[in-house]
Amino acid sequence: MAVRTRLGLTATSAVLALSLAACGGEGAGGSGGAGSGGGAEDLTIGVSMPTQTSERWIADGNNVKEQLEAEGYSVDLQYAGDDIPTQSQQIDQMITEGADILVIAAIDGTALAGQLENAASNDIPVIAYDRLIRDSENVNFYVTFDNFAVGVAQGTALLTGLGVLNADGSAGTATGPFNIELFAGSLDDNNAFFFFNGAMSVLQPKIDDGTLVVKSNQTDIEQAAILRWQQETAQRRMEDLLTSTYNDGSRVDGVLSPYDGISRGIITALQNAGYGPTLDAANPMPIVTGQDAEIASVKLIADGVQSSTIFKDTRLLAEQAVAAAAAFAEGNEPEANDTETYDNGVKVVPSYLLPVETVFADNIQSVLVDSGYWTAEEVASGQSD
Ligand code: BGC
Repeated sequence: MAVRTRLGLTATSAVLALSLAACGGEGAGGSGGAGSGGGAEDLTIGVSMPTQTSERWIADGNNVKEQLEAEGYSVDLQYAGDDIPTQSQQIDQMITEGADILVIAAIDGTALAGQLENAASNDIPVIAYDRLIRDSENVNFYVTFDNFAVGVAQGTALLTGLGVLNADGSAGTATGPFNIELFAGSLDDNNAFFFFNGAMSVLQPKIDDGTLVVKSNQTDIEQAAILRWQQETAQRRMEDLLTSTYNDGSRVDGVLSPYDGISRGIITALQNAGYGPTLDAANPMPIVTGQDAEIASVKLIADGVQSSTIFKDTRLLAEQAVAAAAAFAEGNEPEANDTETYDNGVKVVPSYLLPVETVFADNIQSVLVDSGYWTAEEVASGQSD
């Protein structure tokens, strides 16, 4: 892919000067953009984040902004309040105000084709951040975690919590049958499918052999999905499941949850119905999974209420976004480590995938505290400083 860049016109490196000379000194399709003779300090990066209702996106926004500013870029960071028209308008405005590169975590991955068209006609490279932007030719790069691996880790954590697997992955002594229910993320987020499919790749064989029973029979992602990943919606669905399916004296043994906020909604519904409050209570909490290592949920894990979460180090994701932006700023291609997985419906978007880690109560210290992600005090209080 040739990144036709107005950035090219701003760069001073000899290599780029040569490549510009080779294409007539104009840059390929350069629009004049940010003027000449500058480096990072002349460039503005528009950073569009979906929402501030979840800690991880606040941390993502801050990390990306701080790291870009440390490299000398100006940053225009906007949150869209989980409202699609707001996000579209914020991105259009970033373009109007002269953003040189865009970093976007979409609310609805299918809703930004118009904005990306606009970006492309202004020669602005677009980096999709964590969530793939679909149905557009104009996504230049994708930085994310290995989202299928997240789902595999969630399914595995559910089996481990139930005792079907041991912590080392070997077969455990528990054979079930266990009643489980399945939750998925927002269907307008491409990641939701990767998480669900990854989890089902582990759970389906155990459903097929009778170890696990989805008692509600709601096994399709459409039935399991929670619009905008909302905690209250998840709580309501869990309440409905308890009423419709578990009013015969049977119990829920496990719940696949794709995200900590959804897990907290599920946990509230279960506790209100008399489960728990902890995993070792007389009427124990079901095994509930999660994702993002949000501080309130890490405390619930430390307190023996939630069983697990998946840690995605957003500091490292921010680093990859900054590295990708720097590559575009220098007229280069960012380095991908996956060029096959993320087909957005129009093309396969070159991607950089980061690894993930499963957190149970016994490795909160080594994974989250020792790495400096949360302090021991934050874990104890359940609140970030
Ligand atoms: C992210 C998850 C997050 C979810 C809800 C997904 O796109 O990959 O980390 O839990 O959105 O915010």
